[in-house]
Amino acid sequence: MLLRIKKGWELPESAATPESLYLRRRDFIKTAAAGSLLLGAGGLLGACDDAPSQTAMAEGGAVGEADPSAHLYPVERNLRYRLDRDLTDERDATTYNNFYEFGSSKTIHEKAQQLPLRPWNVAISGMVEKPMTLDIDDLLSKMPLEERLYRHRCVEAWSMAVPWSGFPLRALVDLAQPLSSAKYLKMVTFQDSDVAPGQKAAWYPWPYVEGLTMAEARNDLAFIATGLYGKPIPKQNGAPLRLAVPWKYGFKSLKSIVLFEFTDKKPLSFWEEIQGSEYGFWANVNPEVSHPRWSQASERVLGTDERVPTLLYNGYGEFVADLYSGMEKSERLFM
Ligand code: MTE
Repeated sequence: MLLRIKKGWELPESAATPESLYLRRRDFIKTAAAGSLLLGAGGLLGACDDAPSQTAMAEGGAVGEADPSAHLYPVERNLRYRLDRDLTDERDATTYNNFYEFGSSKTIHEKAQQLPLRPWNVAISGMVEKPMTLDIDDLLSKMPLEERLYRHRCVEAWSMAVPWSGFPLRALVDLAQPLSSAKYLKMVTFQDSDVAPGQKAAWYPWPYVEGLTMAEARNDLAFIATGLYGKPIPKQNGAPLRLAVPWKYGFKSLKSIVLFEFTDKKPLSFWEEIQGSEYGFWANVNPEVSHPRWSQASERVLGTDERVPTLLYNGYGEFVADLYSGMEKSERLFM
């Protein structure tokens, strides 16, 4: 059901409750060895985890300083995008991650340091006027960098709010000049099991793939993050470039992208391929549509003890609701 909602994102950050407590959350898939069993018996436990943790946050916060793009940041904040809560503490956002390429625990930030960031080539291919392969630094020099404060709502009912730096996905679409026959943008994460041991787990359909419709890719909110907290984006958060689509559950926002392919075929997403009954292509946030195994009505704000009501489209309906009008009956828009 599509509803018009109040523009929660227009409230100032100062109206939010300050953070004081930092939650610890447990690893939700205990061992990769259990993966094949999980798949067989009702699917994965979930893309993200909401349970309190016994695992202390490990050392090692932001790690951007050595990144060759460090001189580009900080960039000017775009004030159009506002929050209804305080920013998540940088340490929380950079030490509690989902990046299955480096393992199924949340504390992969140290393992992720194995990822070499240069050379890093980004291919733009498929139904485009201008197929090309760009070095990441070349791409960054062509893109209009800005900072945006976005909320980030995990499918397992926790959320955070972070300052991404990066560029509108639309700028990359314009660079590629897609043909009118292109209906979708498929995006793919790097694949190299020598640096990413999680990719040795054959029960996952590597590489990580995600997709958007062309209309979604051109939407104002669709963003490619290349920085975080005024610095280059840390490896564990998806360096050197990751998607940020805040009206969708977090699993849509793939990390460490190497390929943008314009296509007329709907891409089969990583989690959809693993467990299509729980994770779909659209994955739009909706408090009224439960995950098959838990409610999506509220979310816990990372770094606080608060549970707050979840908003339709994660509060970004003003930007995106029109994309889906008339599709409610034929598409599973909210999972
Ligand atoms: N991208 C890749 N390549 N691999 C992943 O495992 N996890 C997704 C998404 N992007 C994932 C990924 C999930 S489930 C979430 S919730 C977010 O990344 C987490 O992003 P964060 O670690 O920056 O908070």
